[in-house]
Amino acid sequence: MWRNAALFLSALVCCKSAASGFASLSSTGDLFAFHKNLTEIDSITYKEQEVGEWLISSLEQQGYNVEKQYMDDESGRFNVYAYPGETRETDTLVSSHIDTVPPFYPYRHENKTIHGRGSVDDKASVAAQVIAVNNLISAQKISQDDIALLFVVGEEVGGDGMRKANDLNLKPKSIIFGEPTEGKLVSGHKGNLGLEIKAKGKAAHSGYPWLGRSANEVLTRALAALMELGPNLPKSDKYGVTTINLGRIEGGVAANVVAESASATIAIRIAKGTPEDMKDEITKAIHLAVKTFLDDGQSPEDVIELNFPSRGYGPIDIDADIPGFEVFTVNYGTDIPNLEQTVLGQKRYLYGPGTITVAHSDHEAITEAQLEEAVGGYEKIILHVLKEERVVKSDL
Ligand SMILES: *[C@@H]1O[C@H](CO)[C@@H](O)[C@H](O)[C@H]1NC(C)=O
Ligand SMILES: *[C@@H]1O[C@H](CO)[C@@H](O)[C@H](O)[C@H]1NC(C)=O
Ligand SMILES: [Zn+2]
Repeated sequence: MWRNAALFLSALVCCKSAASGFASLSSTGDLFAFHKNLTEIDSITYKEQEVGEWLISSLEQQGYNVEKQYMDDESGRFNVYAYPGETRETDTLVSSHIDTVPPFYPYRHENKTIHGRGSVDDKASVAAQVIAVNNLISAQKISQDDIALLFVVGEEVGGDGMRKANDLNLKPKSIIFGEPTEGKLVSGHKGNLGLEIKAKGKAAHSGYPWLGRSANEVLTRALAALMELGPNLPKSDKYGVTTINLGRIEGGVAANVVAESASATIAIRIAKGTPEDMKDEITKAIHLAVKTFLDDGQSPEDVIELNFPSRGYGPIDIDADIPGFEVFTVNYGTDIPNLEQTVLGQKRYLYGPGTITVAHSDHEAITEAQLEEAVGGYEKIILHVLKEERVVKSDL
């Protein structure tokens, strides 16, 4: 009953503001339908175009001004930037990502639970953010010129979409990032550093191993050194220990051949300090460990190659100073470090529905209640940051 009354009211507000061209989706039914339409589209990283086109058409129908921001390459991939009013560079920005990890799992809604790839990460955030913004505008709690929405590609593979978004020249005083945080505010996340190791051997018959050099032995010695170093890497009270994941190891061709090449791909989650310091420490430890393999005049680089494919980043502190939320830290990476802080004292928040523990799994799913609750959560956060921005403004 109350729900019907609210619907009726929001319909009235909708038609009044429809004069200015804004007719938004706002009911719980809209939320589930919008989330369904998003989640039904396969948008594994590098093929986000279809979901991007759908999102643009929906936002345009709702009265948003929408910009398509293409990546620099020929891929045709693009970010979506939308603002409901006249103001393009708003003080508040809400953002999440439209790509997902592979493989695709189809949408299924039963027993008040919604299953499917992206149902949590990150289409639950996208849907809840859009409906929250619409609700606040419809209820005239915020103005159309207060806020803008940024939906990026490529978050799951290193953040090329968010890095490109720096070219949009936005100057938000507050940014609300959406990722699965179980409806809590996140006060920070660990840093991240990738490492690729290539061991260089010399092939020989396994009966005469001294004629060669086993890349597998070089690599395992290096990995053992890395694992020994692990517990001695910087730790902090806030983020715990730095962890090393030996994600992928490969080497050699057959049991009776001394391996000519071997490699490993590794992810390091940094609890304290800078990626530069971490690179130095790791390089030193591994170079020391492979010393015994060096012939006269050789340097460590002749038998082992260390490649850090990206700059990496240290732990990211995030604002969490909003009353009424539980606060915790997470161990996963986000797009936050990829968006440059263009405004002094810029506030950054991280919040969203669903849990990371199912996010990249084959049983990714969210409950109706979690999705609905997040709409209220985003509304609360947006209202809080707008109030703070106004206080800061009136102080000037
Ligand atoms: C979802 O997609 C269906 C089918 O295209 C469409 O009729 C409906 O209006 C869409 N709903 C929302 C909320 O996007
Ligand atoms: C429906 O979901 C509830 C709570 O998530 C669960 O306890 C129950 O077993 C489910 N029922 C079916 C038929 O899946
Ligand atoms: Zn995500």
